Amino acid sequence: MFKPEVYKKRRENLKKSLSKGVYLFMGNNETPMNYPDNTYHFRQDSNFLYFYGLDIAGMAAIIDIDNDKEIIFANDMDIDDIIWMGPQPSVKELASKCLINETQPFSKLADYLQKSKKSGQKIHFLPPYKHDNMIYLNKVLGLPFEKMKDEASLEFILAVIALRNVKEQIEIEEIDRACNIGYLMHTTSMRMTKPGLYEREIAGVMEGVSLSYGSVPSFPIILTKNGQTLHNHYHGNKLQAGDLMLQDAGAQTPMYYASDNTRTLPVGGKFTTKQREVYEVVLNSINGSIKLMKPGVKYFDVHLSASEILASGLKDLGLMKGDIKEAVKLGAHALFMPHGLGHMMGLDVHDMEDLGQINVGYDKDTRPSDIFGTAFLRMGRELKSGYVLTNEPGVYFIPELIDIWKKERKFTDFINYDKLEAYRDFGGIRLEDDILITEKGSRILGEKRIPISVEEVESFMRG
Ligand code: GLY
Repeated sequence: MFKPEVYKKRRENLKKSLSKGVYLFMGNNETPMNYPDNTYHFRQDSNFLYFYGLDIAGMAAIIDIDNDKEIIFANDMDIDDIIWMGPQPSVKELASKCLINETQPFSKLADYLQKSKKSGQKIHFLPPYKHDNMIYLNKVLGLPFEKMKDEASLEFILAVIALRNVKEQIEIEEIDRACNIGYLMHTTSMRMTKPGLYEREIAGVMEGVSLSYGSVPSFPIILTKNGQTLHNHYHGNKLQAGDLMLQDAGAQTPMYYASDNTRTLPVGGKFTTKQREVYEVVLNSINGSIKLMKPGVKYFDVHLSASEILASGLKDLGLMKGDIKEAVKLGAHALFMPHGLGHMMGLDVHDMEDLGQINVGYDKDTRPSDIFGTAFLRMGRELKSGYVLTNEPGVYFIPELIDIWKKERKFTDFINYDKLEAYRDFGGIRLEDDILITEKGSRILGEKRIPISVEEVESFMRG
């Protein structure tokens, strides 16, 4: 945990933007995998972590603005728990680590909320995403399941986002740490990738590297020779010389901060000419887009510029044609990059996605697009110093999508479908770095950038 004052200060700052009522933070519970005692790896709710820091299942907290109260609700461990888990701190001791004085057993939370509601106080809660917490809110507050997301408090959501969007120095240090572990995960794979190995052998070692630094992967590792499937979690293919292998992985530090990087490697250690040409299009796009990032610039525009660099490179290769600005405006490039350039990152890989991407990545001045491809952009708003984002352009050749667009004669002014035939089995290339917006510009997070140029990757793989 950070120092106790950190959590108190965050709550004090939060309270400045809250109006009236009771603000409820639901922590997470253990989640059974296949029977109650065999649970998934516990992950605390990130909002609870941000304001209380306590990585313990079965907790909740309230800030009651009207009565000037802050309470943590949780049960002390009993002797049965201690026999299996060893000595455990009391809830009072835990609460003191985030400077909360009042604690009550978990069962008292329902009384507190129901009494507050009866007395006319509004109960503000964040959008629940765990079914057990949804059942609890249904039972205690009588909220219908289908309305639960809509009835979450927008005031509360926006106040939390305003704080969590801008990273504190201590958070940036943690994200740098996560990136340094991510560097080791990715470069270990670069050293070991060769023909004859199965994807799972490399993915397993990458996961092991993160575990050996006290971390876990920040999301299930994507590692595949079929990089044209954006989030491919199948690791059962045997690698052959000439394959491309896309690896999208990051670490979550013991303080729960994430990294998220993608590299694409030539399995034999050397890109073919065709692979190198497409790789350099993606490389130009990531490098060009990072250069544009500074406070005051809309990320939506960075996405469009990255897409234009990509489309212009594809035009040089003869795969696209016509007016590139127009092509991107209309979404023709999305045949090759059907996703957004990047997303916010912090305690979550897609930071605060639970609070609604429209609230995190957009605001009244920047609204999401409804054009295929750009519509999947998770972040569009103006950049501020302290924001942390990923940039992850890619070029993918998705045969099923190509076939549909070709049949519909979609964007024939911008796409050379005949030339595309020779790329049907190419796969996909994505490159991704994590970026901090600084006072005047931006920097790539982590001590060293993971090898990315063609020469760096090939020389690293030679080893
Ligand atoms: N890099 C994984 C993701 O953005 O979901």
